[in-house]
Amino acid sequence: MKTVILFGSPRKKGNTIQLARAMVDALKTKGHGVRMFYLNDLNVRPCQGCYVCLKNGACKIDDDMKDLRKYILESDAIVYATPIYWFGPSAQLKLVMDRSIAFMDNDYNSRVAGKKAVTLITFADNNMDTCKPALDMFKKSFDLLKLGYVGSIEVSGCTDGEPIKEEYKKKIKKLVDSLA
Ligand SMILES: Cc1cc2nc3c(=O)[nH]c(=O)nc-3n(C[C@H](O)[C@H](O)[C@H](O)COP(=O)(O)O)c2cc1C
Repeated sequence: MKTVILFGSPRKKGNTIQLARAMVDALKTKGHGVRMFYLNDLNVRPCQGCYVCLKNGACKIDDDMKDLRKYILESDAIVYATPIYWFGPSAQLKLVMDRSIAFMDNDYNSRVAGKKAVTLITFADNNMDTCKPALDMFKKSFDLLKLGYVGSIEVSGCTDGEPIKEEYKKKIKKLVDSLA
């Protein structure tokens, strides 16, 4: 099984990376292929809303979304990893979500139907409701893209790069077991 991780935090030593790394470790332990993209390091321009991509999936913008698209199409599972910024995903991940309109066709059929989706989310608040708007957005988007939403790990109370609790790593291992 091949997995692509869309890593949306700008911080490589923060909170979300700990979940993403645990995911990479769990996938590798099971012998799965995994590739992580640090979206903050990539050049992904905002969707221009021209809908040209609906015809054959090709976006008129020539940027790093081309590579991402290739890996996403080749993968069986897509992991969306993000901190909560103002009750939503980071801008880095939102750009990729917007550009994912290219995974729909003219009749709004999905070009990525049947792939699996996972979300990894951290936020500072201790109120779990804080990540609800983002979870709703992911769920509705995955429904449209016909991705199977197999699970989500949400960690509250994340401020400055404290080690995440072992229980979350165990949850990630369990999630990976259910992936394949
Ligand atoms: C611009 C910005 C907006 C944020 N918005 C929220 C928020 O709405 N709710 C919340 O609980 N935490 C919020 N946070 C805190 C982060 O979600 C939290 O610290 C997260 O774990 C950071 O992840 P990282 O270390 O991977 O970057 C925000 C942080 C930043 C920088």
